[in-house]
Amino acid sequence: MTVFCIVLALCGLLCLAQSARARPKLGARADVQNSLNVSTCPGYKLGSLKQTVHGVTAQLHLAGSACNAFGEDIANLTLQVTYETETRLHVNIFDTAEQQFTLPPAFFDRPSPPSSTSPSVLNTSALQFNYISSPFAFWITRRSDPSAPPIFDTRVGSLPPTPIAPFLNASDNRTAFDGFNLVFEDQYLQLTSALPYDANIYGLGEVVSSSGFRRSVTQNGTLQTLWARDDADPLDENIYGSHSVYLEHRFDTASNKSQSHGVFLSNSAGSDIMLATPPSSNTSFIQYRLLGGTLDLYFFSGPDPNSVIEQYGQVVGLPAWQPSWGFGFHLCRWGYTNLSVVQEQVEKMREANIPLEVMWNDIDLYHSYRDFTSDPGSFPGDEMRAFIRDLASKGQHYIPILDAATGHTANATDIYDPFTRGTDLDVFLKNPDNSTYIGQVWPGYTVFPDWFAPNAEQWWTEALTNWSTGGVEFSGLWLDMNEISSFCLGSCGTAPGADLSNTSVPVTLPGDPDSLVVDYPEGYNSTISGTSGNITVNGTLTYGAGANATNVGGLAKRSILFKRGLGAAEESDVNLNAPPYAIHNGFGALAEHTLATNATHHGGYVELDTHNFYGYMEERATNLALRQIHPGQRPFLISRSTFPGTGKWSGHWLGDNTSKWSYLLYSISGVLQFQLFQIPMVGADTCGFMDNTDEELCNRWMQLAAFTPFYRNHNQRGALSQEPYRWDSVANASRTAIAVRYSMLPYWYTLFANASTLGTPPVRALFFEFPDEPELFSVDRQFMIGSAILVTPVLTPNVSTVDGLFPGRGAVTWRDWYTHEAINSTSSGAVSLSAPLGHIPVHIRSGSAILLHSKPGYTTSESAQSPYSLLVSLSQDGSAFGTAYLDDGTTLPTDDTPVKNSTLQFHAAGKSVSIAKRGDYNAPQDLAQVTVLGVAERPTRVTVGGKSVARQDWVYTAAVQRLQLSGLAVSLNEGGTISWR
Ligand code: GLC
Repeated sequence: MTVFCIVLALCGLLCLAQSARARPKLGARADVQNSLNVSTCPGYKLGSLKQTVHGVTAQLHLAGSACNAFGEDIANLTLQVTYETETRLHVNIFDTAEQQFTLPPAFFDRPSPPSSTSPSVLNTSALQFNYISSPFAFWITRRSDPSAPPIFDTRVGSLPPTPIAPFLNASDNRTAFDGFNLVFEDQYLQLTSALPYDANIYGLGEVVSSSGFRRSVTQNGTLQTLWARDDADPLDENIYGSHSVYLEHRFDTASNKSQSHGVFLSNSAGSDIMLATPPSSNTSFIQYRLLGGTLDLYFFSGPDPNSVIEQYGQVVGLPAWQPSWGFGFHLCRWGYTNLSVVQEQVEKMREANIPLEVMWNDIDLYHSYRDFTSDPGSFPGDEMRAFIRDLASKGQHYIPILDAATGHTANATDIYDPFTRGTDLDVFLKNPDNSTYIGQVWPGYTVFPDWFAPNAEQWWTEALTNWSTGGVEFSGLWLDMNEISSFCLGSCGTAPGADLSNTSVPVTLPGDPDSLVVDYPEGYNSTISGTSGNITVNGTLTYGAGANATNVGGLAKRSILFKRGLGAAEESDVNLNAPPYAIHNGFGALAEHTLATNATHHGGYVELDTHNFYGYMEERATNLALRQIHPGQRPFLISRSTFPGTGKWSGHWLGDNTSKWSYLLYSISGVLQFQLFQIPMVGADTCGFMDNTDEELCNRWMQLAAFTPFYRNHNQRGALSQEPYRWDSVANASRTAIAVRYSMLPYWYTLFANASTLGTPPVRALFFEFPDEPELFSVDRQFMIGSAILVTPVLTPNVSTVDGLFPGRGAVTWRDWYTHEAINSTSSGAVSLSAPLGHIPVHIRSGSAILLHSKPGYTTSESAQSPYSLLVSLSQDGSAFGTAYLDDGTTLPTDDTPVKNSTLQFHAAGKSVSIAKRGDYNAPQDLAQVTVLGVAERPTRVTVGGKSVARQDWVYTAAVQRLQLSGLAVSLNEGGTISWR
């Protein structure tokens, strides 16, 4: 939520004193050049190289006079190269004195290095490390083709030392490439690698990227800043999460084959990452500019996109097991002012027969906007308990918001136990002088949990337990404002003596009289259609003038650099508040709308180093708390600020998007990005959060989002109501799409089991599955669910067709989900599909077999009570394959106690489909229906387990080459074969 701070009575100084952080003691900086350029930086010379069982180590020494461009050059570095697995190479360059910040291992369980006795992959692994000694540079090649252009190549030091590309913004000389040697200073690290011309790069974020899922590497390429930030989804700026990982996909035109690799820089520092191609150059570059830490790099050999993502998951942790109910439809808004309004939504959804799985509450729930409370007047605890239990009795769930900041009490008579208890247990962040750090969020003045504090987890678990026992019996939690957001510029002042009595909300809230929500989607004309958002008038669709396919979803780019960073470049010592190099934080100063960077955590960690993983720490603590509150159950969390490894603890929503067609489009890239980041449980605020939505946009959005993992309609305070029952056409569209989603639940569940066990992304860009088809490399208006389902949503208003690509170059048959008709596509060109309002084109790939619920019900558990149905789409040679993972859907597997589970395998070949089961979990339902697509001739006999199926129980439809069997009772536990002749 973007907010504007009012002037604060208390607001005062940023806390400028230096913290007690365990940084190296630095001498005075007489030699600091205060120069913006790093072209004089000497680079390093390599010496003392030692071969180890698993790689090499060496020392790097500064190769000339220190340039001290944005800090002090560190003279002695250690290089550690470890061939960790056949597909993973780890290159770690760190200060030999080990004073620079690195991620605390207690919270990040990265794979341990191979032990000296474990077998070495030095001579077999797919990647190879190469180097030159002076100036030191390294490059990574594939063992299979060492002469091919390296996948990463830092030998760029010989390039002209002057700026070679006025980059992104000519008036901002810090966006020019400037010096290519390795720079390793206490407050500035720089590493540059050559890339192939206009390389296919995906990842680096979190961002709403104007170039879509494929990042721009043109002359005006990409400036990706990483600094967790609470801003409402601006284009091309740093937002909530920080992910320094990318996937590069290379296509070789000679062989028509592609290979992918991945690069992950494990570092939490605020940073700029630039991708660009200098004018008239045939080389592109990636340049990392970091405010600290070390260069801890991992390279993944792929060679295909899905395996790169899996290999990344092995390093940062595989995604959490999701409870099956998490895949249901979630309904939320900011502005449900009391429990009756919430109950009314639940009732209206039921009346409209639109499935509702999880009801949510925003901060309206709270008393005085304080965490762990429910307002005694509008959401009384006892009534909340009864309401939530009633939901539970109907197989439904409840999730409340949980903001990261904890309200500060106003005075001695103001009792707020979480604050008092947290103070007693010493769990709140500090100023450098050890006083309590005060910020400001919804409750007025606040304090902030310090996840490094020894008692923080205990305090958090206790507070959550009390909240639940007090009536708010949540099934999962929604973690918000954890960038961490605070409305002052840094500290709001220091507590002793300060007046903390003002607990009123410090900002104007959307929907308040002076902040009405008046904007609509592109193309909606409220002077023609009125203010209701309806486009249906007397039963017909009336589009506003100007609603057409070309004026929306465009990629108009707003100037990235509307605010520059505020680097000092003239400090004489380590500067925690304004590091000399200014990253391009969208808000300017690092402390804007968040904490002062010298806020101090237990153990002396400073916010400057840990800021980007504040959200991660909260996700971890909350996941661990939920394991205690609901023993043995899978925690369900959705969180805003994310970091590498978040997926292990939580899912994510794409933050405060806008009810605009362009954001419907961006939601696809957002979901794809987070597959790469290994946080696959992700989705956008459906129908849009900011501004008013309208009937048509909400209709299309409810349908699109039904095919993304996390499916929640959420709305801003003061905006037009947008629950799916509000418009008949949206209600219809929602029922249709949710029915498809719920029938596909066994498929989603299987994809997520693969994510949690192997790291395979559930949602895929088309080129993940068809990596050798370059026309797909930029496609982000369509996406795949697993390998079998292709979704081609409408992303513009006032249209009834949509163009889609159908990969496979004719070798794959794509069959319509609803009609089973095959798409006639033998080329790589676009196909126009009929897509009237209320219809979302979905296709199944030939060669796939997916298990479905035969009767989608009102809830996921009701759906699971229906017998199974199997959909098989034969390839041109009559084969197909698929799997289904089954377990009880809620029990948390741990290393010590795996849950009972089974995997079914479906194989089709030679006019039969065989089913085999592995595992000890009994499929709860029989298989009642089988649909086989691609059966070229009308069978004369159909058998199940060798026995003929009664003639009335199978139907053959020649027009769509479909054989349908119904009325079966095949036990999936015993397996069997279905044949036709
Ligand atoms: C933030 C969240 C948004 C929520 C609002 C009020 O802006 O991103 O989802 O509705 O705060 O809590």
